[in-house]
Amino acid sequence: MDLSGKRLVALTGAGISAESGVPTFRGPGGLWRGRRPEDLATPEAFARDPRLVLDWYEWRRGLIAKCRPNAAQEALSKRGVAVVTQNVDGLHGPDAIELHGNIWRTKPCGCCGRYQRPDVVWFGESLDPAVLRRATEAVGSCDVLLVIGTSGVVQPAAGLVRLARRALVINPDPAAAVPGCDFIRGTACGVVPRLLGLPG
Ligand code: OAD
Repeated sequence: MDLSGKRLVALTGAGISAESGVPTFRGPGGLWRGRRPEDLATPEAFARDPRLVLDWYEWRRGLIAKCRPNAAQEALSKRGVAVVTQNVDGLHGPDAIELHGNIWRTKPCGCCGRYQRPDVVWFGESLDPAVLRRATEAVGSCDVLLVIGTSGVVQPAAGLVRLARRALVINPDPAAAVPGCDFIRGTACGVVPRLLGLPG
């Protein structure tokens, strides 16, 4: 697809950080002490065992601290592509619209106020309406949405694809293809820099 002269926005998921060394949620390495993210990233899990949930985030922060933005993330940044991300790792830099928050920030727990918890959106919680509005506007006003490294199973992020005039899905897994959208099978670093006219 010729992207020259097109207004681009990227919607990214855990797959774009995989080549930086951050494990995806639903791929290998997604489990921690045998638990799935869906069993840890919830208000109920935090109410039941805050130490366990905080330990998981501590472990994830330790992993992410060693990671650097990769060629795909840098290509988006160099080309000035606006990014809407589900990732909480901060690897897209401060200008990204972070739908699910950021693991490096904390806030007091809304239920008890006793604990500092990560400033991220847990399953069962609503997205910040202002953040969702910015994301909706960005996606709705682009010519092509690049959908990179997401399994597309978590709403409302996955539904943003439907707001785009045109979307191009980039993923090594054909199961991530979206009906009605273009699809390139490959990894983020293998595809995105070349697509944007940069060396990989
Ligand atoms: P997932 O772990 O569900 O999906 C990761 C996707 O990345 C899969 O489709 C993989 O095929 C793809 N992938 C793997 N390696 C890749 C690579 N090198 N390049 C490109 N793609 C690659 O992660 P998300 O879709 O981001 O939510 O998950 C969405 C949300 O569910 C997350 O934000 C998080 C999670 O649980 C919350 O924490 C609220």
